[in-house]
Amino acid sequence: KPRVAILISGRGSNMMSLIEAASRPGFPAEIALVLSNRPDAHGLARAQAAGIAARSLDHKGFADRASFDAALDALLVEEQIDLVCLAGFMRLLTAPFVETWAGRMINIHPALLPSFKGLHTHERALEEGVKIHGCTVHFVTPEMDVGPIIMQAAVPVLEGDTPDSLGARVLAQEHVIYPAALRLVCEGRARLEGGRVVIDEFEIAPPAL
Ligand code: GAR
Repeated sequence: KPRVAILISGRGSNMMSLIEAASRPGFPAEIALVLSNRPDAHGLARAQAAGIAARSLDHKGFADRASFDAALDALLVEEQIDLVCLAGFMRLLTAPFVETWAGRMINIHPALLPSFKGLHTHERALEEGVKIHGCTVHFVTPEMDVGPIIMQAAVPVLEGDTPDSLGARVLAQEHVIYPAALRLVCEGRARLEGGRVVIDEFEIAPPAL
């Protein structure tokens, strides 16, 4: 089974959805490590409580992004990690690190990419008045929130929504598609080929047109 590392910076609800999915019989991956760039991340305690090795690598201890990313890479190699899942990891990664892990690193973003890259996605979706919002799992490429898309889920924007109410509706779908996308990648059914995603078979049937 591929050894997966989950990188977090905070509460770790997506991390928990991956840990729970991977604990079920037949899941094609093992969550070998949870790593936070913030020592105080709430998710670290949750990972430990679930019996997963949890470590922090405080970015404040490094002179620059390159040296932090080099230490991160060394740790992942030492732990024999095959695949990296970014799950609320709120730190930009350098191009050399991303290139090293190309095709072996995925991220979840709380919007329907390519709309609403970056931060405060739910607030911005409400400001724009979109009627459909959602989340995206994608392979990570050096440019932020641009990577080839593996899976998306859409939710309606409802009258009277606040960033919190809309965010909660999106988060529930994040917890569905992230484990499903990880499964596809681990089974080799979703992969990066020539900069594009090739998907053999959908876990979740695409909507009929
Ligand atoms: C999630 O909504 C995730 O999509 C988002 O942060 C939240 C983390 O929550 N990620 C990003 O914004 C990446 N730029 P969690 O720690 O409970 O999974």
